[in-house]
Amino acid sequence: MPRDVSALELALNERPRHMTRTRWLYQELLLAILERRLPPGSRLPSTRDLANEYDISRGTIVTAFEQLQAEGYLISRVGSGTRVNERLPDPVRTQRLQKRAKKLPGSLSDGGDPRSARPFRAYEPAVSEFPIRTWARVAGRRLRSASTRLLAGGDPRGYPPLREAIAAYLGLSRGVRCSPDQVVIVTGTQQGLDLVARVTIKSGDAVWMEDPGYFGATRAFRNAAARIIPVPTDDAGLSIVTARRLCNRAKAVYLTPAHQFPLGMTMTLERRLAILAWAREVGAFVIEDDYDSEFRFEGLPVPAMQGLDRGGSVIYLGSFNKVMFPSLRVGYLVLPPELVESFLSFRLSVDLHASGVDQAVLCDFIVEGHFGRHIRRMRQLYSHRLGTLLDAGRKYFNGLLDLLPIRAGLCTAGLLKNGMTSRTAEAAASAHDIETMALSRFALKRSDVHGLLLGFASFDESEIRRGVVKLAGALEREAPKSHA
Ligand SMILES: Cc1ncc(COP(=O)(O)O)c(C=O)c1O
Repeated sequence: MPRDVSALELALNERPRHMTRTRWLYQELLLAILERRLPPGSRLPSTRDLANEYDISRGTIVTAFEQLQAEGYLISRVGSGTRVNERLPDPVRTQRLQKRAKKLPGSLSDGGDPRSARPFRAYEPAVSEFPIRTWARVAGRRLRSASTRLLAGGDPRGYPPLREAIAAYLGLSRGVRCSPDQVVIVTGTQQGLDLVARVTIKSGDAVWMEDPGYFGATRAFRNAAARIIPVPTDDAGLSIVTARRLCNRAKAVYLTPAHQFPLGMTMTLERRLAILAWAREVGAFVIEDDYDSEFRFEGLPVPAMQGLDRGGSVIYLGSFNKVMFPSLRVGYLVLPPELVESFLSFRLSVDLHASGVDQAVLCDFIVEGHFGRHIRRMRQLYSHRLGTLLDAGRKYFNGLLDLLPIRAGLCTAGLLKNGMTSRTAEAAASAHDIETMALSRFALKRSDVHGLLLGFASFDESEIRRGVVKLAGALEREAPKSHA
């Protein structure tokens, strides 16, 4: 029989000084659940009892409970309080999976705690700012009026009105020149890259990759048995002179020209034109990942390479997963017309098409103007948050970390100035409850980039300021003696 557990019986360990109350409570409760001190089905103490016993606010307790509910450890029902889930995830299996995830090179879970976002998690937009009520209203209306056609199945290219809306949006905001027939809906950039790699690359084909660069793209091309050619980036983007010297006859190049991942620079027009001319000359594909260019804070938007291309060489990829919310899983490709048929016949053998209902809801959300409003609001918010990070960085990071000038995106890189390597700095930050990613995680061959990737989008001003102070403290304390 499930039993009630009192706040006293719980006996939580003391909170380490560097740890937030929410994080401490979350960890202690999770440990108690995993060790069966809080057995499956048992009722947790009330938030009031916990607040009195441990001298913490009820808001903090509710946040920790909500996190554990979201992860399936707790269940809350009106009238019966909060209980430990009867069907807990098997702890041995969970641990095994966590260990395995940690071993994957460049896995996002390498960089930090997969459960709760701490400053400066790099890959998370401000999900709490998403207008979920509007989304629910639009979704409810769409589902109530869903036609049997929408429910029965769909076009392997994607929902036609959504493709039209995307083609119009890209033409206006990114200078992309395409008809809706060239647009194919996928679950995100990652699926787009996987499909593109498998359709365009034969085993052993050479592919130029930015170094440092996005490991998700490297993996997709490795999975397709491509020969990866790491090409260093400089202030203007991927160095085409070096690339041509390393391997002129590559089959494709993968680029993040609007906002290089992870260093953040924008590729110059001159460099873009030189790469397009090379692609025409050797018959290569330019794979343009425009994953977060909606968030441009200053300067004129630089049009996509796709719009500059006159040779049908560019495959353009975009995503709604950062602009809206990551679990949405909707993205798109813009293909050169000659590639559409072979791409679609391959795609049919993979997953037919993306979810028709989600595409229809997203389409309504765009057409009714909510998407544009959301982007404008987030652009302002992120610009403000970036300003706070830079401002606090100027004050506290002096001699420790130089934040690179960026004009777009959700994260920025900082170069270490205190003699630390990326990995030691990442570990030092983590020991002080700060989540960063070592830039070396994105390096293919280079060993000269020592720095950290810092996300600013999902943290408010005070979290950013506190995070900067903590990170500066960690970098100062752990610096090699010669730099101290
Ligand atoms: C450069 C880059 N491209 C693509 C993606 C993945 O996009 P999606 O979530 O649409 O698969 C990410 C995710 O962080 C990224 O950093």
